[in-house]
Amino acid sequence: MPTVKVALGACSYAVIIESGVLGQAGAHVTPLLKRPWVPVVTDTNVAKLHLPALQAALDAAGIRHDVLVLDAGEGSKSWTGLAQLTEWLVERGIERSDHVIALGGGVIGDLVGFAAGIVKRGCAFVQIPTTLLAQVDSSVGGKTAINIAAGKNMVGAFHQPALVLADPAVLTTLPRRDLAAGYAEVVKYGLIDDTDFFAWCEAHGAALLAGEAAAREYAITHSIAAKARIVAADEREMQDVRALLNLGHTFGHALEAATGFSDKLLHGEAVAAGMALAFAFSAEVGLCPVEDAARITAHLRSVTLPHDLASARVEDSGPALAAHMAHDKKARGGTVPLILARGIGQSFVSTDYGLDRVAAFLDGQLLA
Ligand SMILES: NC(=O)c1ccc[n+]([C@@H]2O[C@H](COP(=O)([O-])OP(=O)(O)OC[C@H]3O[C@@H](n4cnc5c(N)ncnc54)[C@H](O)[C@@H]3O)[C@@H](O)[C@H]2O)c1
Ligand SMILES: [Zn+2]
Repeated sequence: MPTVKVALGACSYAVIIESGVLGQAGAHVTPLLKRPWVPVVTDTNVAKLHLPALQAALDAAGIRHDVLVLDAGEGSKSWTGLAQLTEWLVERGIERSDHVIALGGGVIGDLVGFAAGIVKRGCAFVQIPTTLLAQVDSSVGGKTAINIAAGKNMVGAFHQPALVLADPAVLTTLPRRDLAAGYAEVVKYGLIDDTDFFAWCEAHGAALLAGEAAAREYAITHSIAAKARIVAADEREMQDVRALLNLGHTFGHALEAATGFSDKLLHGEAVAAGMALAFAFSAEVGLCPVEDAARITAHLRSVTLPHDLASARVEDSGPALAAHMAHDKKARGGTVPLILARGIGQSFVSTDYGLDRVAAFLDGQLLA
């Protein structure tokens, strides 16, 4: 059973990656519980597809459960969703030693994690991620948040789960588009510091997306191991280490903002185009070989992910896109830290380039 440990002292936890682990959830959760009861939170799509298997697993282990089904979609990651969830947990009689189960994608995981962090001043939670994005990224690391009018993920907290159960088999019901968006975050780990893993993606990415179970399990395990190492080194992003996970995200965020954070461009799709732009920018300023940037573009294109402004269907001007970057949580007086690279697997945090330089680059990309 592939298990990755996230080493955070007293807050350490295991991530179990195994096909069929959803059906064993009761057995895995039992040792954590002080009493045989859990609240389960999921969304309308996942409730139809995978809630019965979780309920059967909890029943088999003699764990009583209450279920809250929220609307699917980013709208639930809101003040309204948080109010509904925390009120429900308190009504159900949640205690600090209880464990809330988050069954769903990054939306449910982020919302439940935040609610668990604040209800009764903090209770425990278990992540059962059901999207590729959540299995390789959002379920691990303890970043939790909701969106507010001023921006995405603007209110939140660090709160680590007690256990993560990632079942690659649940991905068979995930739409191809969501799968590909999650795959962008897989590619990201190769581009950050693991050239061999990027080569593995070039060789096996198409098979992973087509449904090959072994490729999915390998990619999830490898990605989580990479994220666990980074989180253990820099849990709260106080140094540059955890910031590397933002590769492609500053450019990507501008694209998401330009498309109104809508279904026009999913987060992972924006990250894919954002990573290609980060490497194209690195090549333009002479940091990175042009061939490396081209290799990334070719791979993203081959799996039908956006890989430039045109394929992301963004037509905003360079200055307009750079203006979105200025609203980044990490922006300071005309610059924003960018994750750039000296080549594939050689990324680093740079504060050497102002937003006006980035705007000029993006204008050039529009004409390309
Ligand atoms: N906390 C972090 O570190 C972190 C990292 C990256 C992203 N995020 C957040 O994650 C969110 C995006 O996550 P997401 O892409 O998982 O979105 P999501 O949770 O909205 O899931 C995408 C869609 O897939 C459906 N779905 C989920 N599992 C399914 C399954 N197995 N079969 C069929 N349909 C299924 C959902 O109902 C939803 O419609 C964003 O809010 C983003 O900010 C957080
Ligand atoms: Zn991301």
